[in-house]
Amino acid sequence: MNRRALGMHLVLLLVSALLGARVLLAHRTDAAPSSESASPWGSDYFPNTLLTDQDGRQVRFFDDLIEGKVVVINFIFTSCSDSCPLETARLRQVQKLLGDRVGRDVFFYSISIDPLSDTPEVLRAYARRFQVGPGWRFLTGDFAEITELRRKLGLFIEGVDNGRSRDHNLSLIVGNQHTGRWMKASPFENPWILADQLGNSLQNWKQPSLAGSYADAPEIRPPSTGEELFRTRCASCHSLGPQDGQGLGMRSIGPDLIGVTEQRDPAWLSRWIREPDRLLAEQDPVAQALFERYDRIPMPNLRLDQPSVKAIIGFLHDETLRQRTSSVEVQ
Ligand code: HEC
Repeated sequence: MNRRALGMHLVLLLVSALLGARVLLAHRTDAAPSSESASPWGSDYFPNTLLTDQDGRQVRFFDDLIEGKVVVINFIFTSCSDSCPLETARLRQVQKLLGDRVGRDVFFYSISIDPLSDTPEVLRAYARRFQVGPGWRFLTGDFAEITELRRKLGLFIEGVDNGRSRDHNLSLIVGNQHTGRWMKASPFENPWILADQLGNSLQNWKQPSLAGSYADAPEIRPPSTGEELFRTRCASCHSLGPQDGQGLGMRSIGPDLIGVTEQRDPAWLSRWIREPDRLLAEQDPVAQALFERYDRIPMPNLRLDQPSVKAIIGFLHDETLRQRTSSVEVQ
């Protein structure tokens, strides 16, 4: 890893550690944890909420899901059309990087904040559509109890939060219940960094290192605004040509975007990136055909403004030209 990548990595770790610490410190005032337990946030802090997973199995939040474990927890609702699919797609990449350690020493939980609609069957269909692997449970339960869980995890914002908060990206947390280290994470984060936190730093470096993980991360060069937006908002679902190191060798959720700026009408492309949900609702034929072809997973409306969309399209265009030129050089 070059120095810049290492520096960036440390900065991100530090920022997330600080964010995490602040959240949990804020909580210590209302529920002072007992000082004897190994972790300051134990069974006296976390409720032992009864939840049901996508296969109908009943589990207890503290006893069965988090006690002594390294976990990723996020709150979703399956009808969410903006940030949840992005988060699910990002976690799917992280799961892929961690391989069979998921379900063994790292556990993934997506808890529905819309339990009335998200029955186990609905959650099972959602997990299948995103092709998530084993070791990742989707859970539902009582609405008030789930809200309480979000509060305890510092993932509930009073007032602004009606379940459809635009700031839904505050809904992901990673932690080690045993050591009491909890950190908020952003779904916009590089999947290698999340995988590294879960596979290495949160394990207190006890586990064997993630096979070749971080060293294989594509080199971080100073990205343009368009590239930065693409990497954080789009790359969890879209690869970009054969030279794209972020594809992680798995089938992408959406189509590969190399050459798309040449294939599509510019006005259509710009509108699609800004409000795909509207185009689909208006029964735009291209949008409908794409939706059917990609397992009926809707492309999320990421609420980007016009300059951001323009920057992304600029990057897609430049990257298409760049890859074409560099593949000519190779031949
Ligand atoms: C959660 C996954 C997801 C995210 C995040 C996402 N997309 Fe998509 N995208 C899709 C899916 C799925 C499709 C196929 C159409 C559908 O099913 O709605 C699609 C289709 C597209 C298409 C149409 C491709 C074609 O052949 O015309 C473009 C362009 C596109 N996305 C660009 C973007 C950009 C730019 C971003 C980031 C700002 C982005 N997408 C973020 C899932 C995603």
